[in-house]
Amino acid sequence: MSNPPVPRADRPSRSRAARLLALTAAVTGTLVGATVALAPTASAGTTLGASAAEKGRYFGAAVAANKLSDSTYVGILNREFNSVTPENEMKIDATEPQQGQFTFTNADRIVNHARSNGMKVRGHTLAWHSQQPGWMQNMSGTALRQAMLNHVTQVATYYRGKIDSWDVVNEAFADGSTGARRDSNLQRTGNDWIEAAFRAARAADPNAKLCYNDYNTDDWTHAKTQAVYRMVQDFKQRGVPIDCVGLQSHFNNQSPYPSNYRTTLSSFAALGVDVQITELDIEGASADTYRRVVEDCLAVARCNGITVWGIRDTDSWRSSQNPLLFDGSGNKKPAYTAVLNALNGGATPPPSTTPPPSTPPPSTPPPGPGGCSATVSLQTWTGGFVATVRVTAGSSGTNGWAVNLTLPGGVSLVNTWNATPSANSGAVRFSNVSYNGRLGAGQTTEFGFQANGNAGGLTPTCSAS
Ligand code: G3I
Repeated sequence: MSNPPVPRADRPSRSRAARLLALTAAVTGTLVGATVALAPTASAGTTLGASAAEKGRYFGAAVAANKLSDSTYVGILNREFNSVTPENEMKIDATEPQQGQFTFTNADRIVNHARSNGMKVRGHTLAWHSQQPGWMQNMSGTALRQAMLNHVTQVATYYRGKIDSWDVVNEAFADGSTGARRDSNLQRTGNDWIEAAFRAARAADPNAKLCYNDYNTDDWTHAKTQAVYRMVQDFKQRGVPIDCVGLQSHFNNQSPYPSNYRTTLSSFAALGVDVQITELDIEGASADTYRRVVEDCLAVARCNGITVWGIRDTDSWRSSQNPLLFDGSGNKKPAYTAVLNALNGGATPPPSTTPPPSTPPPSTPPPGPGGCSATVSLQTWTGGFVATVRVTAGSSGTNGWAVNLTLPGGVSLVNTWNATPSANSGAVRFSNVSYNGRLGAGQTTEFGFQANGNAGGLTPTCSAS
């Protein structure tokens, strides 16, 4: 790769600045200096990508390489979107049709188009039970595990530095009420195949965000959603490299937009990962439902991008459902206007690529003699909040600790990480979990929780054992 990888934390602003620069240059027809990139763009508020960028997010589309010669298609793509996902061109059957022989021609067409137009690229997908080439379908056991890891390594290395986010693993959980992994040849290589894939991807491209991507994970109450949540929670606790969760969000009459979608987004985000809506389409393209999806994303700081699964209805994998934002002739539909208005509405915090911003920034308290101390920082939104609690050991260190907090009336816990709560409301004692009880003198650790209701002031007290 000729381009060195760009540090992950730098990329959102760099990419946004590059796009602002490109847009400004396009308007003025001149070469402009870097300072001009800070000026408002002519298209801010008038296209999906520019309006999303104003909120610190991207708005993308799934793109097919064979449509890049369609001028109507490309006109909409270049005008409206600032991120692309190759719809099929990076899948295993496309990139490694024969074992050990890699083909990137069609994927490169999309990646090059995106990069030369200042768009991000979501890579889709490195490890999946579906769209496997014949040689892989016939493999099992250690040979398959090695072939899968080699595929992840080769493809992520080839695109190193060019991918914003990779769908490292796609659709690994079963539908229905079991919350189990999906049976597949990959799953039969051992339950750790997913984390092995993430580790290989991190080694190959340390600066790409690494996502787990799935469908029917939009309703917070569904077993599949809960199972993916527990996997991500486990990965975060054990240090498996995961940066984001992709919710495909294919909504239709059998699998409609759920009213608790925002809870799902914020619950995943509270685990310390970005959340991306990766394959959005809605049967019938209800303007109201599209609006609600966008508003939900904007309400969650770490929901940092939305991708629709195609541009025009005729480009959709479900074209008979007319589920997209443009009709077959490329005209904007009412859903388009609803999305644009939602992107332009309200004041929302920008997403972060690091743990949620705190207000005010937490200060490390001076450790007292023995014992421990705790501070709380909050990230709030209407009807809920995430609290991050920092525990600092005193001069004797700790073998264990507990933090007592009284939650205001009407506040109830949604979930807690890195600590065990004694209750869901009222006076709650958060005790250390197995891996974070022992702290050296002056050492800190953090735990967190998400709650419904208004936080008010929270005053923690810490006790050590
Ligand atoms: O290009 C060939 C064409 O030459 C051939 O004549 C024709 C015959 O069937 O097939 C064409 O390829 C098809 C390809 O789409 C391009 O249209 C494949 O058969 C077909 O299987 C493939 O479907 C894709 C599907 O993933 C495959 O799993 C859809 O386009 C694509 O939108 C869909 O995307 C998936 C995501 O990757 C994961 N999440 C769900 C989503 C929707 O199913």
